[in-house]
Amino acid sequence: MKITAIHSRGSKGSTFSIARLLLDELEKKGAEVTEFSVQSASPCIGCFRCFTKDEKQCPHRLENVPIIESIESADIVLIDSPCYGMGMSGQLKCFLDHLCYRWMSHRPHPLMFSKIAVAISTAAGMGAGKVTKDIALHFFYLGIPFTFRLAFSIQAMSWDEVSATKKEHIRRKVDKTARNIIAKSGKIKPGLKSRFMFAMMRLMQKRNTWNPVDKSHWEANGWV
Ligand SMILES: Cc1cc2nc3c(=O)[nH]c(=O)nc-3n(C[C@H](O)[C@H](O)[C@H](O)COP(=O)(O)O)c2cc1C
Repeated sequence: MKITAIHSRGSKGSTFSIARLLLDELEKKGAEVTEFSVQSASPCIGCFRCFTKDEKQCPHRLENVPIIESIESADIVLIDSPCYGMGMSGQLKCFLDHLCYRWMSHRPHPLMFSKIAVAISTAAGMGAGKVTKDIALHFFYLGIPFTFRLAFSIQAMSWDEVSATKKEHIRRKVDKTARNIIAKSGKIKPGLKSRFMFAMMRLMQKRNTWNPVDKSHWEANGWV
């Protein structure tokens, strides 16, 4: 079981600590984990070259290609982000914008449809649930059919400040999620919502006269 974990911040913080608890559990069961931080991700400049020419022409390709290749070869993809202003961190959004060419509306990677995703967030008060929902939305459009979501309101600005009771509650949820991930691993198939979205995109690609790069991708995969 190969896992790619993408952390919004480096090795500090409550969100990272919870992600690490989960990864520790999965490592105990034999998972092989590769970790990245997108703390210094460059923002997309909106040149459209990934959409209309080739993703290799992205000015930030060298920065992102190790993460993208790791995602493609993983069985499980984990992304974490603290809640900032009721949304994901700007750094994570900067990274995720670089994956839009891989959305189902453009050139989804065929291997995405059998992966499992995990989205983790913490907020001091409100917003962690919204962040995991937003991350899950990105996973959905990338083609990943199932996302486990772990969202916690921790009433703290750092992991050291989190109460022992809250940490115990988090640990129980993390352990349960680890068991569920292992149970589902290798058995994922696209559900109704994913298949419906793919069918809609397929119809669109059949009529695609506006983006030959996307159209060739669908043809090369035998989808149209
Ligand atoms: C810029 C900024 C914006 C924040 N916005 C929110 C927010 O909208 N809602 C909330 O409950 N907490 C908010 N917080 C608090 C953090 O989400 C919370 O402390 C979180 O656990 C930090 O995670 P980390 O330790 O992984 O960085 C914000 C913190 C920062 C620095």
